[in-house]
Amino acid sequence: MPSPSIAPGWTETEAAAAQSAPVVMELRGIGKSFVHSGTAASPVLAGVNIVLREGEIVGLLGRSGSGKSTLLRIAAGLAAPSEGQVLYQGQTLNGPTEGLAVVFQTFALYPWLTVLQNVELGLDALSLSAAEARRRALGAIDLIGLDGFQSAFPRELSGGMRQRVGFARALVSDPLLLLMDEPFSALDVLTAETLRTDFLDLWVGRQLPTRSVLLVTHNIEEAVLMCDRILLLSGKPAHVAAEIAIPLPRPRDRLDAACNAITAQIYTTLMARLTAETSTPNHGADTIKPLPNVSVSRLTGFTEVLTASPYGGCAELGTIAASRGLQIKEVFSIAAALHLLEFAELTGGAIKLTAAGRVFADSSVEERKRLFREHLQCFVPFAAHIHQVLKQREDHQAPRERFELELEDHLQPSEAQQTLRTLIGWGRYAELFDYRDDIKSFLLT
Ligand SMILES: Nc1ncnc2c1ncn2[C@@H]1O[C@H](COP(=O)(O)OP(=O)(O)OP(=O)(O)O)[C@@H](O)[C@H]1O
Ligand SMILES: [Mg+2]
Repeated sequence: MPSPSIAPGWTETEAAAAQSAPVVMELRGIGKSFVHSGTAASPVLAGVNIVLREGEIVGLLGRSGSGKSTLLRIAAGLAAPSEGQVLYQGQTLNGPTEGLAVVFQTFALYPWLTVLQNVELGLDALSLSAAEARRRALGAIDLIGLDGFQSAFPRELSGGMRQRVGFARALVSDPLLLLMDEPFSALDVLTAETLRTDFLDLWVGRQLPTRSVLLVTHNIEEAVLMCDRILLLSGKPAHVAAEIAIPLPRPRDRLDAACNAITAQIYTTLMARLTAETSTPNHGADTIKPLPNVSVSRLTGFTEVLTASPYGGCAELGTIAASRGLQIKEVFSIAAALHLLEFAELTGGAIKLTAAGRVFADSSVEERKRLFREHLQCFVPFAAHIHQVLKQREDHQAPRERFELELEDHLQPSEAQQTLRTLIGWGRYAELFDYRDDIKSFLLT
């Protein structure tokens, strides 16, 4: 595993202290392949080495399908590795064991059981007396802010409260190591933020018996707010390709300059790797989506409005439309484009800039261009495909018709035309490619 880059602000002594805390779990040379109808599939994970120490929250980031959940299940003893070994408290892990608990993305509650009964399930392996189980479950319910809801059924609870039950069920067993698989990603932005903050308050206030946390997330900003170290899982098969220490004191404020700077730094490091990974674009049918009719200047203008007062990066689309005198349809197209480029998240009728979106809005013209280019290549596979085709051709040119026909295989003709117009605008701005109307051809910039 690469040694962690020590970010500014963390002294060598602090870094050394963190490195010498007792080990809770060690994943050694973990590999995993799945067998599909008798034939071995290509491996998902290979040579994954991770050491989790006391006192730290470690984030695991990676693209969708990179194997994060698979690795977490292996660490939890819920799946066996095909290669390598998991050592928990120095002993080989052979299955679920006391001291390990998992919080899943989807809350996985039993609808016919009350909150209390769902939480008590977390104690099943401990063979406690009924009275002791009840006492501990009520304690966990209280701790996580569910007091008064013990007799409710899951259907009576909001998403945020259901996930609190998920947390209580994991925490009730006093786990030494808590494994969390995108625990906030099924919640709306504000609910996620509240639960995250509550969890961190408990962690920082040492109110949890838990010594170490492994958090799977796809959200870089969340990882920066929560973690002491971030591991990037990437490659095929996936391994730990980068490790970044986050030495910021807690509580962390996403609007704080130091927090933003480190988010931007991590963002750039991770994006560079993710972009490198997508250098062979897959432009299969499922990845060809129509692009909305939105110019880059619209996108940049919108991110600037969103970061400015009174929004601070997050707003209801209806409110923005009303205050800027825009049609709601127009605002939705812009929001959809920002979402597609992963500069924003959309939940219901609200938009929230991602860490990258925030960096994009605050950057200089050149930096903005660079970031836009990375996102365009990474998240719009057809743009990366055009670039690749042009690079491979001797004259670095290709007729418009070629891409038009490819798009029309998957989209309605009018959608294909619109998509091509948007691609030309975005590709030009990103300096990924150019288009000349007189010769109806794309050219490498
Ligand atoms: N039980 C299984 N049988 C066969 N293939 C599987 C199984 N579980 C996972 N996979 C495959 O392993 C790969 C990694 O899946 P995994 O769910 O671990 O990814 P992930 O990083 O958690 O993705 P996401 O971010 O979408 O949650 C995927 O290609 C998936 O199809
Ligand atoms: Mg997953």
